[in-house]
Amino acid sequence: METQGGKATARSALVTGAAGGLGRAIALRLAREGWSLVLLDADQAGNAQTLSLVQQNAGVGTAFTVDVSNPDAFSAVVAQVERKSPPIELLVNNAGIEGTVAPVWSYGLDVFDAVWNVNVRGTLVGMQSVLPGMIRRGRGAVVNIASTSAIRGRKGLAGYVASKHAVLGLTRTAALDVAPHGLRVNAVLPGPVRGAMIERIDAMAGGVERAGQAALAEPADIAAMVAFLSSDEARHINGGAMVVDGASTVL
Ligand SMILES: NC(=O)c1ccc[n+]([C@@H]2O[C@H](COP(=O)([O-])OP(=O)(O)OC[C@H]3O[C@@H](n4cnc5c(N)ncnc54)[C@H](O)[C@@H]3O)[C@@H](O)[C@H]2O)c1
Repeated sequence: METQGGKATARSALVTGAAGGLGRAIALRLAREGWSLVLLDADQAGNAQTLSLVQQNAGVGTAFTVDVSNPDAFSAVVAQVERKSPPIELLVNNAGIEGTVAPVWSYGLDVFDAVWNVNVRGTLVGMQSVLPGMIRRGRGAVVNIASTSAIRGRKGLAGYVASKHAVLGLTRTAALDVAPHGLRVNAVLPGPVRGAMIERIDAMAGGVERAGQAALAEPADIAAMVAFLSSDEARHINGGAMVVDGASTVL
């Protein structure tokens, strides 16, 4: 399913999870920076809403309903975009799910697999779909939205925390793989951000999990870091783990 609108600009940015809180803020910020947007999400209605907001703010883009863990569907979108739109020079792997809250000894294996499937496999599928084209053109950057859960434990969140550690591992490995081709892969590690995901986790954990932490970030705070990493100003930043958390996890 594809929804299109607006006039294309010179470069495309693909954002996954674009129907969600962070994905929407990232899409709107990148549109302001002059990127043509390729919006992917499993939630068709939410994604169409993001596209409409992008267009209301003078941005351009196309929305696709895709499960990021499906390599054929992801690659098909990339091939279709690159036939008629500017090449994809930025991938933001942002789609993610939190799974459940349960102690590690009773954490459901089905939930664990589901979280791994979206957060880790989806991130790898995204990179495998766009990197060959970026390498051919010798130009491009990837930003993987991890979490401060990539560098710390969190009570009851085995699937999520393990998956975000893996996203950081994938980022660091990919950065080394692409560096000789002039490309960059970085991770953003947000602390808790105002929005639906943190509300769901708080509801499951009874508000205990986040006790004592710093104030919530706004989605725009994370989008600002993505905009920086996608700019030429960040040309020497590769394999980075950029924490955006208001000092809630100072190591
Ligand atoms: N919200 C936070 O506090 C926070 C903190 C740190 C990191 N993050 C990370 O930021 C990212 C975005 O989180 P958010 O707060 O916007 O959450 P959200 O739940 O608002 O949005 C996530 C989006 O991903 C989409 N999605 C889920 N599975 C998908 C799949 N298989 N294929 C395609 N799309 C899929 C959902 O439909 C949703 O639109 C996630 O990776 C999350 O782990 C969030």
